[in-house]
Amino acid sequence: MDLSQALLSSLFRQFFRHPACQRRARFHSIPRRAPPRHLCSYHPPRRRLHTSTAYRVAPDDSGWLPRDKLVPGDLSVEFAKFPLVTASILANRRERPKMVKMLVRDYIDDALYNPNYGYFSKEAVIFNTDTPFDFRRIKNETAFHQIFAEEYKIFEDKLDEEHPNDLRQLWHTPTELFRPYYGEALARYLYENYVIDLYPEYDLIVYEMGAGNGTLMVNILDWLRTNVPDVYVRTQFKIIEISKRMVEQQLKSAERAGHMGHVEVINSSMFDFKTYVANPCFFLALEVFDNFAHDMIRYDLETQQPLQGYLMVDREGDFHEFYTQELEPRTQRFLDLRRRINNPRHDKMFSNVIGRSFTDTGRGGSAWSKLKNSLKKQVWFTENLTAPEFIPTRAMEFLELLNSRFPHHRLLMSDFDSLPEAIEGVNAPVVQTRYKRETIAVKQLFVHQGYFDILFPTDFVEISKMYELLSGKFAKVETHEKFMRSWAELGDTTTKSKENPLLTWYKNASVMHTH
Ligand SMILES: C[S@@+](CC[C@H](N)C(=O)[O-])C[C@H]1O[C@@H](n2cnc3c(N)ncnc32)[C@H](O)[C@@H]1O
Repeated sequence: MDLSQALLSSLFRQFFRHPACQRRARFHSIPRRAPPRHLCSYHPPRRRLHTSTAYRVAPDDSGWLPRDKLVPGDLSVEFAKFPLVTASILANRRERPKMVKMLVRDYIDDALYNPNYGYFSKEAVIFNTDTPFDFRRIKNETAFHQIFAEEYKIFEDKLDEEHPNDLRQLWHTPTELFRPYYGEALARYLYENYVIDLYPEYDLIVYEMGAGNGTLMVNILDWLRTNVPDVYVRTQFKIIEISKRMVEQQLKSAERAGHMGHVEVINSSMFDFKTYVANPCFFLALEVFDNFAHDMIRYDLETQQPLQGYLMVDREGDFHEFYTQELEPRTQRFLDLRRRINNPRHDKMFSNVIGRSFTDTGRGGSAWSKLKNSLKKQVWFTENLTAPEFIPTRAMEFLELLNSRFPHHRLLMSDFDSLPEAIEGVNAPVVQTRYKRETIAVKQLFVHQGYFDILFPTDFVEISKMYELLSGKFAKVETHEKFMRSWAELGDTTTKSKENPLLTWYKNASVMHTH
């Protein structure tokens, strides 16, 4: 057993010793961007995930395709009987569900956001320091790495003194790492665009979805107060935040910095936000898209038809993947929209991971393949379905909502354009947890809800073209580095050796801004 397996065994022993409701106070959010440790052959004790075996067309007309035809017992009967639930229905539950089926996006939403056992609803800890890093006095990037690692340790040692916790999910974002300079770069962007387009007719109204500790809000408002007080007095900063704990943190941050007169914090998921905002406004979303739930589809190798992925949780709490030929309307809408988008990068990835298997089915006339083809009418073998593709149906829903509720918005979002250590599939997520200060990535999507972060890369070509199609507005995509070169005061984050971590650390992040 290697170190990772030993860690996970221990982690899961601990998980299953305590009922879900007791774990709430003991565990929280994401280890972000630390290189995850890899675990290819990991099997959590009770929770089985069938990664091989087969898919099957149910004998009735339901169209459900249980994934484990070759294991004893016919789950399709149970599957037809179990109710179809959504993350909103599950939000009322204190216990993880059994004997239900759900779309994969609802599983992800529930695992991340369920108010009782979801990953983000627990005591989230985002790394921050008492004082900003003094980059000008740091020797070089290597030295910054060391100082950062030491600060991380000090931060966590302090937390452990008060409340030891092997399962603490501590993570960091560029906002925190490069505060206040990251926020100041965004403040310059907001100010200049405001002055060009909206001043003096309109106030400066900024919405931020998912504001973490509230650090970006404080850094932006500090910059405006110091540099352009006449704009500061007419600035309103509104946060839409799903997590109650984060809301408390954000209110504290605003109060400490003396910005309460300019800040409103709305404790709501963006997807439940009902207000119509008629005024022109800026809308910020930093590292929020990566946790937007995705739907999962696989393709029939022979017909190349996409199939809708579902998760069934049986009476034991074990997970089973199912597929249906009928696509759920949002999945269908996404695929229809995507057909109108020219995206060579996606085409290439699709052809490498999925398209290649289509060609393979054309080959070979062996007895086995003939047998498989004849069986095909009743049974779908693993080999008859492709690797999964993850499609950002929640992100599409967000764009639709943004256009209908905030018709005069300008969006500024930033996120990861690629992620190392993802699970199998096109546009696949990283599924990871942190245990005894080690980040551990696993190879499967269906895991004990609430203990794992599930984060996706964003396809910026796809999302920007989709945005343009839906809104009729223009979207510009830049690398994180290019955006920072335009708007940051680079001297603030340059080390003595002239290396600049603000430009080099987030190589896998991009920015989209629209007007
Ligand atoms: C990864 S953190 C990023 C925090 C902050 N933007 C930063 O860069 O430091 C994601 C934040 O988004 C919030 N969030 C996630 N989904 C949300 C949703 N649907 N509506 C509102 N907030 C959401 C989380 O609670 C958390 O505060």
